[in-house]
Amino acid sequence: MNRALKEGADALGVPGPDKRQVGRAFTRAAAGYDAVAHLQREVGDALLENLPRLELSPERLLDVGAGTGYCTRKLLQRFPGASLTALDLAHGMLLQCRAGSSEGRSLSFVCGEAESLPLRGACMDLLVSNLALQWCQELPAALAEFRRVLRPGGVQAFSTFGPATLQELREAWARVDGHSHVLEFPAARQVAAALAVAGFREVSVQSRLRVVTYASVEALMRELKGLGASNRSPGRPRHLVGKRAMGAMIEAYAERSEGGRIPASFEIIHAYARRF
Ligand SMILES: C[S@@+](CC[C@H](N)C(=O)[O-])C[C@H]1O[C@@H](n2cnc3c(N)ncnc32)[C@H](O)[C@@H]1O
Repeated sequence: MNRALKEGADALGVPGPDKRQVGRAFTRAAAGYDAVAHLQREVGDALLENLPRLELSPERLLDVGAGTGYCTRKLLQRFPGASLTALDLAHGMLLQCRAGSSEGRSLSFVCGEAESLPLRGACMDLLVSNLALQWCQELPAALAEFRRVLRPGGVQAFSTFGPATLQELREAWARVDGHSHVLEFPAARQVAAALAVAGFREVSVQSRLRVVTYASVEALMRELKGLGASNRSPGRPRHLVGKRAMGAMIEAYAERSEGGRIPASFEIIHAYARRF
């Protein structure tokens, strides 16, 4: 195997967030998620828009980390004859997904983890995952599972966050303490390497920076909480973050404000690949 590829993929073996806590945080956020998930919908639209180029006519589809089902419903509209499985770690998200989906469609719901899919091998033609993989403990484990459940020739398309995501928040916290308050995200080249190592071909990975502005640091923090995106990184502080530390972080972050708004960067990675 190409050494650079292997090193890129190995670098992703770093443990990610605690899964039970991730599931609980997303279940708590499920009811209010849609009201704040603007960026998630925008990224999902872009992810699905690029699918036609892959000349697909899938019959069996899987949405990994389906959440409240925005992409699930779009996929059903796009491929009306197909049967679709919506899978998520958070039971509360799946309930919300089911409540928002019309009856009688060929849609099933599975509570499970991307890194250990409770599905038989080679049973899917198309696998889609929008902004869920950044929560996985190990991206290579999830990609190995994606390959296992896809039939030969099947396609996977996912989006995830890259390293520049929330860099302003990361830098503001770095001025306050030595803890990790923001998850570590893989670079596009590492994602591409991990896909190649997992046995995908026709790999296409793009990254772009999207800067969103907020009325205040508190507004950004409220939105992250509403999305279920609380800090679950292994290096997070084990104690509650005190008011003083939070205040210092907000002050440091607010120094970046321009025209009364603060910027928050999101590096969006889109990845497409075919299983062979
Ligand atoms: C930011 S939401 C995205 C939801 C949806 N795909 C969308 O575009 O709105 C991330 C989702 O991934 C789920 N998730 C996180 N880690 C997961 C894992 N290891 N396996 C399966 N789902 C996971 C969460 O429960 C949550 O519903």
